[in-house]
Amino acid sequence: MSHVPVLLNETLEYLDPKPGEFIIDGTINGGGHAREILKRISPGGTLLGVDWDSELIEKTRRELKGEKIVLAAGNYADLSDILRQYRLPRADGLLLDLGFSSWQLETGRGFSFQKDEPLEMTYSQEEEPAWQIVAKMRESELEKIIREFGGERYAKRIASAIKSARPRTTKALRDAIVSAVPGGYERGRIDPATRTFQAIRILANREMDNLKKILGELPQILNPGGRAIILTFHSLEDGIVKDSFRDLARAGGWELLTKKPISPQGEEILQNYRSRSAKLRAIKLSTK
Ligand SMILES: C[S@@+](CC[C@H](N)C(=O)[O-])C[C@H]1O[C@@H](n2cnc3c(N)ncnc32)[C@H](O)[C@@H]1O
Repeated sequence: MSHVPVLLNETLEYLDPKPGEFIIDGTINGGGHAREILKRISPGGTLLGVDWDSELIEKTRRELKGEKIVLAAGNYADLSDILRQYRLPRADGLLLDLGFSSWQLETGRGFSFQKDEPLEMTYSQEEEPAWQIVAKMRESELEKIIREFGGERYAKRIASAIKSARPRTTKALRDAIVSAVPGGYERGRIDPATRTFQAIRILANREMDNLKKILGELPQILNPGGRAIILTFHSLEDGIVKDSFRDLARAGGWELLTKKPISPQGEEILQNYRSRSAKLRAIKLSTK
């Protein structure tokens, strides 16, 4: 399944890629946003595309052609090292479009509770699988993660059921969750597994830590005049971006490009349901 880029026009407006510029797409996936960025930096521009999923990087390498593209499998949180390794300079723009893509739901690595797959749930195949991380955790820690990252009010009961079941597959995990929550969960509005699966995915990929790390390194990654655009899909992530951008702007030398986050409008949500929870924030390093 191909992944539809979210808030594409708005991303391009704030990222504002121009001929000859060096732009980083830190979560390139199949290149939905990157294809349009490539058109705008030509002639003479360079695109660095990073994704933690090395299978995706190989697929994108075959599909994406452009004047100058460098593709690297890695964690965007290690961008400073990646730039050094590839001898690349500071960038004129950085895009991060967080979370998982439609492609990952099809990988068989446990991102979907609608299937029965090994409970890996990591973007990088080299990271410790989710089932193992969960098996090593104390029940109280797991409860906290499910409550904080999932916003799940039955976190205590679910954590206890998971620790007893020791699930290694998505089906076993979903069965444990369903056994722990009351019938008529959320009046059938969402699947009982939705929130816990989200929490375990965020845990297994250290998603909040990666975001905090890259935000702290923006001053070393961008050129004067450089723009950073971040698309989030979780209120905790949006809060982290909001606070960090506000602190940068207060400290001086940065211009907040979005006072309020930009969200998709009706038509985009109708066309692409996943976009409904997206929030875009942008900031620019001043030229002076
Ligand atoms: C929502 S998709 C990006 C979609 C892309 N903008 C497009 O339009 O095709 C998020 C991507 O980020 C990748 N990803 C998640 N966490 C990452 C991390 N810490 N470092 C690098 N890539 C990451 C995932 O593997 C996934 O491919």
